[in-house]
Amino acid sequence: MIDIHSHILPNIDDGSKSIEQSLNQLKRAEEGGVSEIYLSSHYFPGHYKYTRQEYDEKLNALRKLAKVAGLKIKITSGFEVFIQPGILNDIKQHSLTLGDSPYVLIESELNGLPTDFYDNVYPLLRSGYKPILAHAERYVSIMHRPSKARDLTDKNIYIQCNAGSLLGLHGEKVRQTAWVLLENGWVHFLASDDHVRGEYGVLLEACELIKKRIDGLTVDLLTQDYPARIESGEQIPYSYVRVKRSHHKPKKSIWRRLFG
Ligand SMILES: [Fe+2]
Repeated sequence: MIDIHSHILPNIDDGSKSIEQSLNQLKRAEEGGVSEIYLSSHYFPGHYKYTRQEYDEKLNALRKLAKVAGLKIKITSGFEVFIQPGILNDIKQHSLTLGDSPYVLIESELNGLPTDFYDNVYPLLRSGYKPILAHAERYVSIMHRPSKARDLTDKNIYIQCNAGSLLGLHGEKVRQTAWVLLENGWVHFLASDDHVRGEYGVLLEACELIKKRIDGLTVDLLTQDYPARIESGEQIPYSYVRVKRSHHKPKKSIWRRLFG
């Protein structure tokens, strides 16, 4: 699996608080079947203060320590960029993408996407960036109307869902919304958004549930095939096969009811 969303770099955002914790998170991820992980620290000017140089230094130091600790997991740079006016300049200036790709993991106000959300995302699209909205199921406006996620994909914005949301770790409404998005084929990436716990059992558990309720192909697409395309550059479709399955048993015909 490739996990495109985590907060593992120490003392840079609200994720890991120490190098030991970071190493533990990486170890747990590797044990949980993650072969590559993007360390997508929050980029939110005014809230988290660090320079790109500081980020790179911490990343390189952690890579070295992970190697010493015998970890094989591939560690890739990334950011979770808070969308606000003028953010394109920061993205360009500091290369706030996932690895060297054109994909940018973005976030906004959880209590509802603001009215100028698209105004601030369109400049990214016009400049060739490919935005991915992090944990779409956690936005109040999407909880109220899940088809808003389809409106986003219609506007060339990819959708990422948190594994924990599918298990109800962010509440029942978020859980229901996450499944609606998933079952309608409006999710492109499943990720941990691991902050400190290194609970990669959650990711595995979510994958098992998706296998049961939808199918294994969906798990492969969202945790392996599509994330791998971020690096390979192969196009990720905005809409793919509708995956929702009917939970109702088909009615028996009169013939079958009479004669079994
Ligand atoms: Fe996050």
